[in-house]
Amino acid sequence: MKAITTHESRAAVDARVEALLAQMTLAEKIGQMAQIEKNSVTPEQVRDHAVGSVLSGGGGNPSPNTPADWARMVRDFQEAALQSRLGIPIWYGTDAVHGHNNVRGATIFPHNIGLGAARDADLVRRIAQVTAREMLATHANWAFAPEVSVPQDIRWGRTFEGFSEDTALVSELGVAVIEGLQQAAAPDQRVLASVKHFVADGGTTWGTTRSYDWIPGWWQSADPQRWRIDQGDSRIDEATLRAVHLPPYAAAIAAGARNIMVSYSSWNGLKLHAHRYLLTDVLKGEMGFDGFLVSDWLAAQQLDADLETGMVTAINAGLDMIMVPFRLTEFITAVTRAVSDSRIALSRIDDAVTRILRVKVEFGLFERPFGDETLLATVGCDEHRQIAREAVRKSLVLLKGEPPVLPLARTASRLLIAGAGADNMGRQCGGWTIEWQGKEGDITPGTTLLQAVQQTASASTEVLYDADGAFADDVQAESALVVLSEVPYAEGEGDRQHLALPPEDVALVQRMRARCDRLIVVLYSGRPLVVDSILDQCDALVAAWLPGTEAAGITDVLFGDYPFHGMLPYAWPRGESAQA
Ligand code: GLC
Repeated sequence: MKAITTHESRAAVDARVEALLAQMTLAEKIGQMAQIEKNSVTPEQVRDHAVGSVLSGGGGNPSPNTPADWARMVRDFQEAALQSRLGIPIWYGTDAVHGHNNVRGATIFPHNIGLGAARDADLVRRIAQVTAREMLATHANWAFAPEVSVPQDIRWGRTFEGFSEDTALVSELGVAVIEGLQQAAAPDQRVLASVKHFVADGGTTWGTTRSYDWIPGWWQSADPQRWRIDQGDSRIDEATLRAVHLPPYAAAIAAGARNIMVSYSSWNGLKLHAHRYLLTDVLKGEMGFDGFLVSDWLAAQQLDADLETGMVTAINAGLDMIMVPFRLTEFITAVTRAVSDSRIALSRIDDAVTRILRVKVEFGLFERPFGDETLLATVGCDEHRQIAREAVRKSLVLLKGEPPVLPLARTASRLLIAGAGADNMGRQCGGWTIEWQGKEGDITPGTTLLQAVQQTASASTEVLYDADGAFADDVQAESALVVLSEVPYAEGEGDRQHLALPPEDVALVQRMRARCDRLIVVLYSGRPLVVDSILDQCDALVAAWLPGTEAAGITDVLFGDYPFHGMLPYAWPRGESAQA
């Protein structure tokens, strides 16, 4: 395993941890095992209960949502943690999965599907380093990334969080994220990576998602398309699990991963959060993982309607920290009772807390519990946005179209642009941006594709835009650009059984076909879609995935300043029949 960060030897680290553990009460040990979301805990509770971690779930933002307000929010929690009896600092965790993406004004990079298309590990490492820097500007020190799923069914709402269906590429890029986050991003400071979701979360079968009536309102939808494969059951044999889904974790451990997040999904009917064989025997035993495991949001409570039983099952299976994330005192009471009733051995508690403290010591959290607010000036800075723009360029895949259709001419007399996504930052960024599910519209500063075209075309070019392509009857142009886009989604909200373009998109393409000599379609999507209905209507078709804030990376290529570079990270379906 590569040395991570500490200048101390493993023996010195373990001696520090052992000495600290010996001073801790049972209540403090259980407090360290708790991860609570920021609206459900006060700094005083963090102090009084020795809470191990606080998190911002998707959209867990301060109000107003600015980098400076984020820094103040996290600093308040950390200052309180340092006032606890033993002064154990917290991990502050957030889903920084394509930049510090909850923060308005942060640089938003292409989602992993676009980075899989770019296939550039050095670029991914640089992206992770920038992400770590923008996180540490706000004192956030734990990123719930990389997701190293190996999605096998693109109907899954989390396909875009995966790099690829190809295991080796996922391993390579997952390692690049870990190295970028955990290398010095600020003076001797690092961000802890969380490799997720262990294991085979991308191998589930359509229609196997379960609901939990004792957790009302979560992971359910009346819509027969939503929550149908996410958190489902991976019905595969062990050889497949080990060949397809396990290798990214072996690569991650070898690269210095110190935290792994466990998957909501099941393997042949047994929830991963209850899976002692995979969590303890395989991951901690056979693979030698000696960092700590964290649960997913409410996932331990999915195991049983009785809170204590769910915690007993998860902790005995091998979970070390529980993303509860709402009920701190009930969690402490339940686990305390379980220990006194010998449902959880004290040795299991001590092992879990040892692992949690070991990683805090390794990362120098006791010496450097805070980030660096002088980095606030770098959040969303032009240097960072240029790296995002490079990533967008490299992510684009040309599905159809050869010269002379592209490149577009800068000096064309007129250029028509249509499609709701052409001027919609929310659709450009996708889920996990400012809000959990993402959000339509002007959600954060950046450059939309329309703005990028207006900045790139010559002053003599008339750029006309209408989302619906509703131009005056006589309006014609040499070239037209249509952006087709999925609405933002995350997790099971994005499960879709049918991936054909909606009729309104087909009609828009047909309308624009009649108005131009060259019709270029750009697709903003979290996965490949069935595009047969427009393939013969357009002269060029570009997969842009979910590019983030810097759409100028798209015009860099469309106007010929850079070549197409991207390659498909997932097989592209032809016709609905292709769906499994
Ligand atoms: C979510 C996701 C996980 C995320 C966590 C915290 O439900 O499954 O990827 O890190 O909760 O937001």
